[in-house]
Amino acid sequence: MQIRISDDALAIACGANLLARAFAERGHEVVRTSSWGMHWLEPLVEIDGIGYGPVEAAHVDAILGGTADALCIGRIADHPFIASQTRLTFARAGMTRPTSLDDYAATGGWAGLERARALGAEAVVAEVTASGLRGRGGAGFPAGIKWNTVRVAPGSEKYIVCNADEGDSGTFADRMVMEGDPFMLIEGMAIAGLAVGAGKGFIYIRSEYPHAIAKMQAAVQLSSAIVAPFEVEVRVGAGAYVCGEETSLLNSLEGRRGEVRAKPPLPAHEGLFGCPTVINNVLTLAAVPFVLSQGAQAYADYGMGRSRGTMPVQIAGNVKHGGLYETAFGITLGEIVEKIGGGTASGRPIRAVQVGGPLGAYFPPALFDTPFDYEAFTAVDGLIGHGGITVFDDSADMAKQARFAFEFCAAESCGKCTPCRIGSVRGRETLDKVIAGEASEANLQLVADLCETMKFGSLCALGGFTPYPVMSAITHFPEDFGLRMAEAAE
Ligand code: NAI
Ligand code: SF4
Repeated sequence: MQIRISDDALAIACGANLLARAFAERGHEVVRTSSWGMHWLEPLVEIDGIGYGPVEAAHVDAILGGTADALCIGRIADHPFIASQTRLTFARAGMTRPTSLDDYAATGGWAGLERARALGAEAVVAEVTASGLRGRGGAGFPAGIKWNTVRVAPGSEKYIVCNADEGDSGTFADRMVMEGDPFMLIEGMAIAGLAVGAGKGFIYIRSEYPHAIAKMQAAVQLSSAIVAPFEVEVRVGAGAYVCGEETSLLNSLEGRRGEVRAKPPLPAHEGLFGCPTVINNVLTLAAVPFVLSQGAQAYADYGMGRSRGTMPVQIAGNVKHGGLYETAFGITLGEIVEKIGGGTASGRPIRAVQVGGPLGAYFPPALFDTPFDYEAFTAVDGLIGHGGITVFDDSADMAKQARFAFEFCAAESCGKCTPCRIGSVRGRETLDKVIAGEASEANLQLVADLCETMKFGSLCALGGFTPYPVMSAITHFPEDFGLRMAEAAE
């Protein structure tokens, strides 16, 4: 009997390796695949398309003996969490062996690169532009426009840099691509190289992702002849959040201190080693093989407004059904957390949802009708960011969450500019006073002033976006700040 178990880091952390050994010891063939992305069911065991999860070693004999009905979820592909998705980037998730060239080629792999070679650079850029693909790292800048800037920039050396320094709390889509479908990322980078005239690409992966690093290194070696003359090299970061910011990342790649560079010049003009450079997030580059193999229109057919295609949403935090949910833009936040996510894991009411990582805004249930769309989120003072959604129940203290944002910024600041370096520390101190009961109007006004200065005076998004979680907590949950005032008055 063939048993399929994921070798994704999350599945392994939940016990997938022990389970694989238990089945193998009983004489069964165990195939290690990518993850389906249903994290609450890991380790998930698949036999003839039928899923069982979450499975412990003690369940193995019952599964093999056909008496594990309580763990059976039926056909995995028909499970509502999977069947309701639009999987363009994660089309292979759960289905293929991550570093199998045979599996990749048999599921449409390299078709995008083949078509790109036939089209030529200018037409490839036109195709990516027409698809409407925007940067999935958070800023949402049109990928085709960035590529064209690099394509026409003067210079004999150009580079592709893949930003895999996935630092946002509650996000894991980049990791899942690298661990589950690494050839897709390499293919996307090779297409980008062809489009802009770059001969070499770097994947900058955070050191906290050892499984992703190992898979990417293996995949780079296995596919080197296929993508040649384009070359790919994996580089490992050292764990600084700010190195996810593109110019710090470039400094780090060059062997310098991971400190933000002033823009301009944009990396598209003067990037790695001073050469024109495309820096894109993993998900942006991973979407490219689909765009090239299926055509721009097939991608652009999904989405709403200027947010075209799909977004791999990452559902995490205090939620019943956490995992990777790829869907066309336009789905509402409420649908994601209540219908797909199933509400909180604790069973208590949802109090807040933070969207876009530690620098993203907190949304109260009153804003759950906001559609997942870059512009719609901006209109309510939020951001989609990298698509991470973290759910909190009604026991969350939003004043403490606001303080955490300042604390995070203070810890991760590169120190180059004053609003971020000093503002985050003063903000944390002031919220400490508020939490201790000194919620005077003057203190809250000081927090608002600091946020204003950080938002408009910081050199990069770390300092510039910290006001989002702070001010959204104050705006939508004033009682957590006001109550302290009442408590102090008593
Ligand atoms: P940005 O808006 O300054 O730039 C976006 C991208 O477009 C950059 O690559 C920039 O070089 C490029 N660009 C801008 N104008 C261009 C032009 N005319 N031609 C060619 N390229 C051009 O945003 P930034 O500071 O790079 O990123 C901020 C975002 O990062 C935030 O939205 C935040 O959500 C996200 N973020 C993501 C994290 C993650 O873990 N993925 C962590 C922290 C923040
Ligand atoms: Fe560095 Fe913060 Fe300024 Fe960004 S905002 S350059 S992280 S000090």
